[in-house]
Amino acid sequence: MKTRKTSPAQHVSFLAHRRFLWLKVSGALCVLSIVGYVSTDFDPVRNGGTWYGYTLGVIGALLILWLSLLGARKRAITAGHWSLKGWTSAHVYLGVSLIIVATLHSGFQFGWNVHTLAYALMIFVILSGIIGVFFYVYIPRRMSDNRAEMGQMDMLKDISNLNAMLDDAAQPLSDKYVPIVRKAIDKTKLGGSIFRRLSINDARCSTREALTYFQTEMRNVEAKERSEILDMISVLERKNSLLLKIRKHTRYKALLQIWLYVHLPVTFALIAALIAHIISVFYYN
Ligand code: HEM
Ligand code: HEM
Repeated sequence: MKTRKTSPAQHVSFLAHRRFLWLKVSGALCVLSIVGYVSTDFDPVRNGGTWYGYTLGVIGALLILWLSLLGARKRAITAGHWSLKGWTSAHVYLGVSLIIVATLHSGFQFGWNVHTLAYALMIFVILSGIIGVFFYVYIPRRMSDNRAEMGQMDMLKDISNLNAMLDDAAQPLSDKYVPIVRKAIDKTKLGGSIFRRLSINDARCSTREALTYFQTEMRNVEAKERSEILDMISVLERKNSLLLKIRKHTRYKALLQIWLYVHLPVTFALIAALIAHIISVFYYN
């Protein structure tokens, strides 16, 4: 029986989907656009107002509309040739090809007007998209490394087990230590505001506070309590390193969320400016 090997870079395979089919399609679109642009001679300028300009403009606008549908597509699950992986692959490569299509459409006629606004927003969305690909390629792999095959639910379950162990380890200790351990159990926070989720080293983490406290305490504790304190430190260290993992995971998720908060709204602004551009050229020409 054949066993299928899972590639370590499986999550980035949308870039190589169907042997770079969409890279080839986009490359061909760019080459055709450039050949068409240099081989047609327009007077006085080559831009959106010529038949060739209209052709590229319509292609560009249809591409933008199609690219904008990715969000809706992401939420509908299907497989096969038009799988989400295929859509994302086409999205990335066709999105980049717009730089050529739209620039040639404009005939390099830029100015302080709504046409150039649409163009600038498009470039912004494309650049943010390229940064997004970097995130998608780099972060999820880091996420799975970091989780060490552990799901988020498992991580939370482990935290509650470690809390129970802290409780046990606190039993033989003197009463003065109880509030510190209780705080580490009850007051350790995960998540919170976006800024908190972005920072890995939570300075206010009560588990870390407790760990530092017991490590210092080791220097002046009486010999009979040493081994109990050492036990406590070892559980706190385990919880602290698990918390660090979870915080890293949460940070990556927050970064992706912030990225989407840029890519998506600027897409809406682009569509609005594009509609204004198309209406204005038909109204004024
Ligand atoms: C249905 C699609 C489109 C149509 C019908 C269209 C139409 C036109 C026309 C007629 C012009 C010439 C305007 C003039 O000479 O005053 C033009 C120019 C231009 N278009 Fe488009 N366009 C379309 C899509 C796009 C897209 C997708 C972009 C980029 C986001 C874009 C950006 C520009 C720019 C930057 C110019 C140059 C502005 C100028 O000449 O001052 N257009 N377009
Ligand atoms: C004008 C061009 C573009 C438009 C209008 C556009 C629009 C969108 C939209 C609407 C989404 C879905 C967001 C959501 O609801 O989850 C999206 C996702 C995405 N876009 Fe773009 N995009 C463009 C260009 C690009 C480019 C050039 C790249 C990369 C080079 C890119 C990379 C991505 C990535 C990686 C995602 C996330 C896919 C996922 O979550 O699986 N985009 N884009």
